[in-house]
Amino acid sequence: MKKIEIHNHLLKSLIALASVIEARDPYTGGHIWRVSRYSVLLGMRYGLDKNYQFVLELGSMVHDLGKVGVSDGILNKNGPLSDQEFQVVRQHPVVGGEIGQNHTLYPLIRYSILEHHERVDGTGYPARLDGDSITIWGKITAIADTFDALTSPRPYRPALPVDQALSILSEEKGKQFDPHLVDLFLSIAKSDKLTPILGHAGENRLLLSCPACGPLIVPRPDIQDGEILQCPSCTGRFRVHRAGDTFQLEFTGSKSGVYVPRPDDGLIRYVLKRKRKTVTL
Ligand SMILES: [Fe+2]
Repeated sequence: MKKIEIHNHLLKSLIALASVIEARDPYTGGHIWRVSRYSVLLGMRYGLDKNYQFVLELGSMVHDLGKVGVSDGILNKNGPLSDQEFQVVRQHPVVGGEIGQNHTLYPLIRYSILEHHERVDGTGYPARLDGDSITIWGKITAIADTFDALTSPRPYRPALPVDQALSILSEEKGKQFDPHLVDLFLSIAKSDKLTPILGHAGENRLLLSCPACGPLIVPRPDIQDGEILQCPSCTGRFRVHRAGDTFQLEFTGSKSGVYVPRPDDGLIRYVLKRKRKTVTL
């Protein structure tokens, strides 16, 4: 057993990097927060203690670090990938491991990074692990990642309803996913626990809908009435009209044509608030 100290600057650097990588894809706003929340719910239902819940919380939040090695052209392609492009995408867990391997917190995040595209039937990537050779971190992150991808909009389809996403998880029991973990996730879905996560980018941080593109705009937690927000997809600029917890976006008539991904300070503050002083592995 090894005790690892969790210093703020270590967390800040990781979350800043993970959030700016997420922001490169206009269709994944809030994805890493939601994947982390779904993962922790599933980890708790599985019976992980608080120490291991934090490992899962952090690992699942940074699982796609390796996407920094995938070009924008491939990452945001609006259509099927060629074999060559898919080969590049398949490398992202390995690239994530290479980025993280010298980081002090790597022991906490490595399995979510390396194994979130492995499948229990052994046909996943990058290592074609199967069954029990995939860790609990990898198996849980895979379910949470897929559920969020299905219930989020894509350029080529709207978000799927929760029931349809859950049926797809069920169909993949024993193929893509661990059957027992899928059953536990279905039991969580029967409660109301997914509702505060779906369509959110943080606690009480509802994704805002671009009138043209769908629910893609991640507001800062402290956003004020009258501020200007930009849609990451169409780059339209909108004025926020805030009344309590409800927001309306009014198109200003201008589009900048470019969107610059930035680290998510709200997410960094959220993680720092919840961090543990030490983790034992
Ligand atoms: Fe991934």
